[in-house]
Amino acid sequence: MHLIRRGRRSAGRVRSDDTVRVARRPLRRTPPATPIARAFAAAAGRAGVTVFLAAAFAGALVFTAHARQSRSVADGVYSVEQAERGRQVYQEQCVTCHGDALEGSVGPPLAGDGFLAIWSGLSVVDLVDKIHNTMPLQAPAPLSRQESIDLTAYVLQAGGFPAGQAELTDAALPGIALPTVATAAASAGGGDVPVAPIANLAQLMRAIAFPASNIVFNVQIKDPADDVPAPTGTRSFDFVEWGATVYPGWEAIDLAALAIAESAPLFLVPGRRCENGRPVPVERADWREYTAAVVEAGRAAYRASQSRDWDAAIEVTDQLNAACDNCHQVYRDVGAEGRGVGTDRCRQDP
Ligand code: HEC
Ligand code: HEC
Repeated sequence: MHLIRRGRRSAGRVRSDDTVRVARRPLRRTPPATPIARAFAAAAGRAGVTVFLAAAFAGALVFTAHARQSRSVADGVYSVEQAERGRQVYQEQCVTCHGDALEGSVGPPLAGDGFLAIWSGLSVVDLVDKIHNTMPLQAPAPLSRQESIDLTAYVLQAGGFPAGQAELTDAALPGIALPTVATAAASAGGGDVPVAPIANLAQLMRAIAFPASNIVFNVQIKDPADDVPAPTGTRSFDFVEWGATVYPGWEAIDLAALAIAESAPLFLVPGRRCENGRPVPVERADWREYTAAVVEAGRAAYRASQSRDWDAAIEVTDQLNAACDNCHQVYRDVGAEGRGVGTDRCRQDP
């Protein structure tokens, strides 16, 4: 009986960490006013991503993207006093997550080769913007622009870049280049499209595995055959709501299962880091087995969904939940009291 099942499931499995976890950070950006403005914003976002991808892997494009950068961080672009102001803010607001020596703890390192590779060829303004717009994570109050620039001066100092006479100013930022670091990018199918990580592992999980799994787990409480999306015409337009009406019901389950199966091998891309800066342990045999189990669970979920049999779809959620959970127990939910203390995540010797 579906009703009984529904009660049992929602009391148990559905409340796994992966399904009920709430967003830790509310979106701060105000949405654009009209659908057309939104389409532009989306297009601009995509363009931004393209530039970033290109900048990370192709020297020629780095040059195009930042053609106006006439100075480099090696040229003494901040002052000692400024870095000292930055250090004080760092000690108050950043040290718990990025470590005393910027070596990383819960958050990634802010110095060293791995850090420089991520910012390779970009402009200092990109780094200031990253700090200003997104750090400290979950902060009640945002940093001022001046604080963000001072912090960047401190990060440069800690990274061994020399101080100069003048302070780093907002106006000068776009003209100053971060160093270009050669990164080994694999290519897909021998072609010229580089396959190299952009996201840290937590971001990758949140971007694909998390939403796709939640769509599959939803069969525990809703029969996909009954899933008739509400008409969107009555409220203000929303791409996400509209999108859910295009491939609804069982097809949504099909697609989510495929997303899980197809994207899991991305857990194995070399060079990806975890949020705390540790490399993802892609060489470890158990890591590869856990990943293979997700591919298998995604396949099984697809087959179950294709059968259009609600019971079969509910059944397969156990396999999916276990595939995620088995790896999380070893590599994610470790540390004090068993979870949420990110410094031990992704250890090479669990
Ligand atoms: C609550 C923990 C936390 C605090 C506090 C925090 N950060 Fe972060 N920081 C993170 C995490 C997690 C990431 C990785 C995710 C991301 O890039 O958004 C990150 C990423 C960054 C990055 C990008 C690093 C990279 O590898 O590209 C910079 C730069 C940064 N933080 C600077 C700061 C500064 C400066 C402060 C203090 C004002 C600060 N952070 C405070 C957790 C934190
Ligand atoms: C091979 C191991 C492995 C598998 C399989 C795996 N995960 Fe993860 N997952 C991790 C690790 C490790 C982290 C922490 C990453 C980090 O800190 O950068 C993580 C983080 C996450 C996060 C972010 C939560 C947080 O606390 O930041 C979500 C959500 C998540 N995983 C969902 C899933 C789902 C859903 C599945 C199954 C489809 C899955 N994961 C399968 C290892 C795995």
